[in-house]
Amino acid sequence: MTRRWNNPLRDPRDKRLPRIAGPSSLVIFGVTGDLSRKKLMPAIYDLAHRGLLPAGFSLIGFARREWEHQDFGEQVHDAVAEHARTPFREAVWNRLSEGIRFVQGSFDDDDAFDRLAQTVKDLDAERGTGGNTAFYLSIPPWAFPVVTKQLARCGLAESTDDVWRRVVIEKPFGHDLASAKELNAIVNDVFPEESVFRIDHYLGKETVQNILALRFANQMFEPIWNANYVDHVQITMAEDIGLGGRAGYYEGIGAARDVIQNHLLQLLAFTAMEEPVSFEPNALRAEKVKVLGATKPVRPFDETTARGQYAGGWQGGKKVPGLLQEAGFPKDSTTETYAAVTLEVQNRRWAGVPFYLRSGKRLGRRVTEVAVVFKRAPHLPFDSTSTEELGQNALVIRVQPDEGVTMRFGSKVPGTTMEVRDVTMDFGYGHAFTESSPEAYERLILDVLLGEPSLFPVNEEVELSWRILDPVLEHWAKSGSAPEQYPPGSWGPGSADEMLTRSGRHWRRP
Ligand code: BG6
Repeated sequence: MTRRWNNPLRDPRDKRLPRIAGPSSLVIFGVTGDLSRKKLMPAIYDLAHRGLLPAGFSLIGFARREWEHQDFGEQVHDAVAEHARTPFREAVWNRLSEGIRFVQGSFDDDDAFDRLAQTVKDLDAERGTGGNTAFYLSIPPWAFPVVTKQLARCGLAESTDDVWRRVVIEKPFGHDLASAKELNAIVNDVFPEESVFRIDHYLGKETVQNILALRFANQMFEPIWNANYVDHVQITMAEDIGLGGRAGYYEGIGAARDVIQNHLLQLLAFTAMEEPVSFEPNALRAEKVKVLGATKPVRPFDETTARGQYAGGWQGGKKVPGLLQEAGFPKDSTTETYAAVTLEVQNRRWAGVPFYLRSGKRLGRRVTEVAVVFKRAPHLPFDSTSTEELGQNALVIRVQPDEGVTMRFGSKVPGTTMEVRDVTMDFGYGHAFTESSPEAYERLILDVLLGEPSLFPVNEEVELSWRILDPVLEHWAKSGSAPEQYPPGSWGPGSADEMLTRSGRHWRRP
């Protein structure tokens, strides 16, 4: 049964997610990985701390390590102590740790999966989990077929009227359209689409969901949210960190596949989509599918895209290596650490409005934002010198850090002349609300346990996103040239600046 999404726009009581998951357990494959330690285990503790997990909630780790239940418990404990958002409380931890189990084995080990099935059964008998189980595949995609087949073989993949089984998968969902289709087929072979929860953790962020609130709960933005008034949109995800320690995942992947294909295109979808008829999961996702289906990359790619790779140098007073000096990357790696693309949403609302998407590592600062930049007023009844410092109006959704919304507009400078200059008006989460925002993974894990699929992209969205990006990736691959080097702490390669100056625009320097 699909429940209604407790839409925070309609239900003010949902502000602090007063939704408690029903009897259930979560199995994590890949418990020794970074994601588990830094995000998943802390999020589970935070949910327990907020009283959102059921009394008998159980967490099962599956890995090759020779661990006992207690050893795994200690790993979870340390991860929680180091990374949880909410304070550590013995009482919460003790309750959670009673339901922690570990199953030792490799993915091709039938006995291990039989033991896993037995553990799921035992936990139902001991703790009343109802057998309801979510399987979190925090593992590389090459392992999906073997793990999903094992789950099917030992009867763990099948939902019944009384018992649910769900699978949670993490990106990368393939590396192009063809491989994404293959991957979807493998997963859907075992789990029906309604039991598949694809994580795009950006959708779990409060500020990303707030794009929907801003647009559809208010009257004043939507009338101007179209090609008549909007000049262009800039979607930026900048990070100041490098890729030390991540070669295994990142080499050959690059910035476009890592974050544009998923996070940034989801931000575009929320920004550009039409109003859904309701916040029922299928209504929201149908609008995203529609807008992604209308989105195309603008050509010629030599002029409308840019890619770069960070060089070594100084950043924030520290000497940092370039990508080619980072451990694990080949000395002639052509993996891009910066990517920018120009897209157009080919529909009546947006025709002719460029959507510029960019992301990079080792940039000036960590910031993610969506900036809707408006056209200039058609006429300015002032001396031309009075408006020299007047830019374009902009509405900026600050996804992180310093979460909030900024409006930029012109204002009279105090004095005897009519001089107009840009000013900003700010809404900051930190000022407007007392409660702190849950981490994205808290929201998403809870939604998995509740069976609320709204915030999880369907396979069609994933495939459409590859369809948008594939031509650009093919163009870059064919060009045979290496990505342009850019200094650490800068705002990316010069070609990215040229990409915008050609049309008389420029990137924001957030
Ligand atoms: C991940 C990417 O999806 O998002 C990483 O694989 C990136 O490369 C990370 O660093 C950023 O997430 P956040 O939530 O810190 O913006």
